[in-house]
Amino acid sequence: MKEAERAIIGTREAPAKHRSKTGLERLQAFSLLLALCPALASCSGSQSALDPAGEEASQVAILFWVMVAGGSMAWAIVVALSLYAARWKRKTISEQAAGRVILWGGAIFPAVVLTALLAYALWLMPSLRPFTRQENPDLRIEVVGHQFWWHVVYHRADGTQVISANEVRIPVGKRVEFALASADMIHSFWIPALGGKMDLVPGRVNRLSLLATRPGIYRGQCAEFCGTSHALMAFPALAMEVAEFEAWLDQRLLASAGISAAEAGRKAFLREGCGDCHRVDGTEARGASGPDLSHIGSRLTIGAGQLKNEDGNLARFISYSSSVKPGSHMPAYPKLSRDDLSSIAAWLGGLK
Ligand code: CUA
Repeated sequence: MKEAERAIIGTREAPAKHRSKTGLERLQAFSLLLALCPALASCSGSQSALDPAGEEASQVAILFWVMVAGGSMAWAIVVALSLYAARWKRKTISEQAAGRVILWGGAIFPAVVLTALLAYALWLMPSLRPFTRQENPDLRIEVVGHQFWWHVVYHRADGTQVISANEVRIPVGKRVEFALASADMIHSFWIPALGGKMDLVPGRVNRLSLLATRPGIYRGQCAEFCGTSHALMAFPALAMEVAEFEAWLDQRLLASAGISAAEAGRKAFLREGCGDCHRVDGTEARGASGPDLSHIGSRLTIGAGQLKNEDGNLARFISYSSSVKPGSHMPAYPKLSRDDLSSIAAWLGGLK
């Protein structure tokens, strides 16, 4: 009797065990979906190539989805055929038929699909390439990569220029040409939301053309390993309405002409030798090995996208630059007196 009971319990246990296995499988599938969530979350945001805000970025995004669709279709067909062959197709096929399957499925089909995808990608290339010299950009921006910051110069058609650093602003709906160079290593200029990336190579000038279609604050990032703080070499990229952009640029030109030379912070800045590496319009500070600080008070970030430009972060960067950006050439100034530090930070913060 007990044997029979055990047998019954045993047979009852078996389906129970089977059920729990299905539950485990469900849990695994759910965990996989959860694990995929962060990947999906990165499809939008200020640094996503899949959330385009520029003409070139839109083309890149469309190319991506066409490639995904093409690849998924090929994958689905292969999986369906494998299942069919493994589960339902029980008969053997002749050698001749097998040869035909290999010819069509293994050679002709992939060749056609890959040729079509390649042709589409090549067709997009002329518009992704920087424009030729005959075309006139509305604005030219020169960017020079340094370890680990960006020197930025706006060249207007009337010959005036505004020097800035670690931030890029462009007018929406206008074609902007970037002239990209490097002072030391190979860097790569990339604003995923606006377009593809372009390397900054020492000894040559590469050109990149971008056209923003949607105003906003996006994030650019160095995309080529260039040393210890490569990952900390970012910058805000602002796409502004044309009138707003022009007003901002005019304001910078006016501010450069009228910077007061009386503040204690300015004196301390020059006394400490900061001007040997940094340039500030309207002062003797003419250094070029560090970022231009003429309008640093108006920038969104400090240290190439590392700190928000607020709440004493300027003073923090001056005192501890090497811990904010390991490997950067700027020495830390932990011994600067409290008065000098705060007056330099206040003076710089006032440079709008
Ligand atoms: Cu500059 Cu990586």
